[in-house]
Amino acid sequence: MSATSPTIRATRTSDIQAAAQHARQGGLVALPTETVYGLGCHALNEAAIQAVFDAKERPLTDPLIVHVLESTEAYQLWEAGGEELSILKTLCDTFWPGPLTLVAKANDSVPKKLMAGTGFVAVRSPSHTIARSLLRAANIPMAAPSANKFGHVSPTTADHVFDDLKLEDVWILESSDDAPCHVGVESSVVKLETINGSFVLTMLRQGAISKTDLEQALTNVSNVSVRSEIKRATTDMTPNVAPGQTIRHYSPNIPSYMVSSHCPFHDKLKDAVVVDYQGRLAKWKIHVREYRDLGASSNVAAQNVFETLRWAERIPFSNYILFPQIIDHDHSADALTLALNDRLTRAASGVVIESLDDV
Ligand code: TXA
Ligand code: MG
Repeated sequence: MSATSPTIRATRTSDIQAAAQHARQGGLVALPTETVYGLGCHALNEAAIQAVFDAKERPLTDPLIVHVLESTEAYQLWEAGGEELSILKTLCDTFWPGPLTLVAKANDSVPKKLMAGTGFVAVRSPSHTIARSLLRAANIPMAAPSANKFGHVSPTTADHVFDDLKLEDVWILESSDDAPCHVGVESSVVKLETINGSFVLTMLRQGAISKTDLEQALTNVSNVSVRSEIKRATTDMTPNVAPGQTIRHYSPNIPSYMVSSHCPFHDKLKDAVVVDYQGRLAKWKIHVREYRDLGASSNVAAQNVFETLRWAERIPFSNYILFPQIIDHDHSADALTLALNDRLTRAASGVVIESLDDV
């Protein structure tokens, strides 16, 4: 190999004990979870946290989620007592292990870098067997953002992680399952705060757990309200957007657009790859370079969406990726339809086009 050739550094393994030891010593281990692959490290080790930010090329302003085996470990990271702790306990008991991330005030044991100086720490307990085995063997809380380069499509297989992080010093845990991440989109993220003496639970990112699921879990808890405030930035610089929720996210590396249902036929379709949902753009199938439908239901589409976006960006000689609008009105859609709409809107940088003249 010449001196200028890139060195492939990622190591692939299915040895959980060895990977756990590597993480305990400050190494990076990519692990499958039921949502997406995470890039894990010892959550209380500052150097390891920095290495995760570096490997992902992620800005230090975007905090990391901590993964724990049991909710008791989360209570040791949060600065919560009384009513606040009992709300958190209710949510953990209802939704963990599973795709809900809880953000609450952190105590002094949590490194500032992990929280991007917010004073709030995000914690979740994953349900995936490999993630749980790794956490059990390592016996540490593990920080794990999605294991993609910052801004790129989230990974749902070991191959996706390798494609993004092959030049990084990362161990990748392989799963014998071809589709290890069965939910397919990242967890719902909610933040618990006290506002004017009342508790407010705000949904920051839509995943498989809905606002209604949260409200139902908290029916018997007084003094808490749930709100959905998934703010979208129109540019990366827009203030007051939850960290990591800027619009340019999950982007394939070729221009991607959401097309309105009124968008007419255009010659440019021959250079497009269509990623459809429930046949909304099936009329274009014979005109485009490649076409795939995500599936007939939101749970199948959520499982397929990131794999399909990664497939779409690799089609040779295509100039665009096009998706249909997923929903017209948020109200009646289920959690995974909302999540799908959110991820595809972000993949298209928030742009819905009425005509292919605009691309
Ligand atoms: O499903 C998931 O959540 C996956 C798997 C690996 O667990 N992880 C994941 O991590 O999606 P990441 O880092 O790609 O997304 C975490 C989101 C980011 O939008 C981040 O800004 C937000 O959670 N977050 C983390 N800590 C936060 C905090 N202290 N306050 C507000 N938002 C926070
Ligand atoms: Mg991510």
